[in-house]
Amino acid sequence: TSDIIIAPSVLSADFSRLGEEVEAVCRAGADWIHLDVMDGHFVPNITFGPPVIKAIRNRTDKVFDCHLMIEPADPYLAAFAEAGCDYITVHAEACTHLDRSLQAIRDLGCKAGVSLNPSTPESVIEYSLDRVDLVLMMTVNPGLGGQAFIPSVVEKVRRVKSMIGKRPIMIEIDGGVTPQTAPLVVSAGADILVAGSAIFKGGEQAYADNISALRKAS
Ligand code: DX5
Ligand code: ZN
Repeated sequence: TSDIIIAPSVLSADFSRLGEEVEAVCRAGADWIHLDVMDGHFVPNITFGPPVIKAIRNRTDKVFDCHLMIEPADPYLAAFAEAGCDYITVHAEACTHLDRSLQAIRDLGCKAGVSLNPSTPESVIEYSLDRVDLVLMMTVNPGLGGQAFIPSVVEKVRRVKSMIGKRPIMIEIDGGVTPQTAPLVVSAGADILVAGSAIFKGGEQAYADNISALRKAS
């Protein structure tokens, strides 16, 4: 599909030059910027938080797509909204009161996303779909970049797509997305592809080719 949204994950960028990396990947054709926030508690890794996001916000006008892998999430939602995130996605597994968290994100003026780990059934979001703008489906276990795509999630993508029906909810895929795996999830209903290691490789001059390879494969 030509209207697929490509969201590079800066997790695989050179953090010492984060602002330049964001600019480079935007010049190379990125649609959105995916920001992986990890707390060393919900996932076994620690990345960055609102101050870093705020510092790169003025490098582009592209959508900032924030993936919160933190527990709890509620106390920090306002800080991520203030840092300039457009979409804020929380994990269903990390939110005891998911419905409340999703509404809180919308109340802050942001789009609300909910993420599901590979082993989490889609039924956990069934009764909150009216509060959801985006479903982020993990095709690896969250925590680090460069892991292998888990093929069993493709069937779940199909189920979520049919569960959504005519609602204006986008499906985003995150983890192990490459030109080989992209067509599997796009044909199952994906609208947005996150990719870290498949885009931030080969140096800055390769980013445009890496992005167009994903687009062509989709
Ligand atoms: C995983 C993160 C992903 C990750 C994807 O915990 O949520 O966004 O950066 O990296 P790749 O594309 O390398 O699998
Ligand atoms: Zn992510």
